[in-house]
Amino acid sequence: MNNRFLDACWGKPVDRTPVWLMRQAGRYLPEYMAVRSKCTFLELCKTPELAAEVTIQPVDILGVDAAILFSDILTPVEPMGLKLDFVPGPVFETPVRTMADVERLRIPNPEEDVPYVLDTIKILRKELAGRVPLIGFGGAPFTLACYMVEGKGSKDWATIKRMMYAAPEVYAALMEKVTMMDMEYLNAQIRAGAQAIQIFDTWGGVLSPTDYEKFVLPYTRKLINGLNRQNTPVIHFVKGAGTMLETVQKAGGDVMGLDWHVNLGKARDVLGPNMAVQGNLDPTVLYAPKEVIEAEVKRVLDENAGRPGHIFNLGHGILPTVPPANAIHMVECVHRLSQK
Ligand code: CP3
Repeated sequence: MNNRFLDACWGKPVDRTPVWLMRQAGRYLPEYMAVRSKCTFLELCKTPELAAEVTIQPVDILGVDAAILFSDILTPVEPMGLKLDFVPGPVFETPVRTMADVERLRIPNPEEDVPYVLDTIKILRKELAGRVPLIGFGGAPFTLACYMVEGKGSKDWATIKRMMYAAPEVYAALMEKVTMMDMEYLNAQIRAGAQAIQIFDTWGGVLSPTDYEKFVLPYTRKLINGLNRQNTPVIHFVKGAGTMLETVQKAGGDVMGLDWHVNLGKARDVLGPNMAVQGNLDPTVLYAPKEVIEAEVKRVLDENAGRPGHIFNLGHGILPTVPPANAIHMVECVHRLSQK
């Protein structure tokens, strides 16, 4: 039983710092590409045996202290009534632009509409058999709404920002619906066996702190408050939140995910001793020579300065062209340098 990831989420002392990597299952692993070459990404997400197989790959290959369910943040948005495609980035054919579009969206029943996600979790709990804990996840309401309104990725997210400013009632109605969907979806993951939940707010940092507080915080806070989490810690990752950590902290949760734009030690000083942190190595460090990777791992561990409640991770997802050997080396460095 390796419980150091969950212990660290709760701020308990651990024998060595737990580590996993955001997007640890994916294209940088030849073993993933071998499975992926036989089907589309969505087919992989919707086939529990295959999704479970690629979830476990990084546990075997990298020696990480947690597994994260293989799926996508946009998986539960499709049954809201928006046809989803990956080309390879996500694309919604008919984005949400008007109140009528919002009214047409339905709130899925996870057991009926995304059974494959829950089945994947059940298979994983059996196959992992306590080896490492299983993290479930979802997108934060704002990041999901970003893709639903834009229809695809964007450099400036101007369409959803325009909706926020010019049609605040449409924006609010959309965010309410997405928050309710998320709550049902993440609680279903917990019921199925997810042992921690990570909420990804990849685009929360594109707003000013004032707009974040007004247009994002109320929904994420409502979502986290609505989760059944007595035994299930919640990790809240808002990319680009370094200048507004106190505001983001008001959303609740047990662990704050940090990107590499903040000094981890300074972030801990702001957040206080009752919130754990996760992060925050720059993902591009994994292209560096072995000794540079080791020095950077040591720097992050030194910034934490032995405080309980640190989960080592990258500050964002692992990049698709990183050599797996470098990721293996990073995990080994974290374990060796933090060993008590
Ligand atoms: O972390 C894991 O290993 C679990 C799986 C996971 C995926 N997506 C698989 C995936 C998780 C946790 C996500 C989250 C996700 N998806 C986020 C939030 C985290 C982040 O990276 O910011 C976002 C914004 C998305 C939306 C998304 N999905 C994009 C923009 C893309 C295309 C670009 C890219 O990074 O690959 C995807 C596709 C996707 N999601 C792939 C994988 C493995 C690649 C699909 C393929 O095999 O072609």
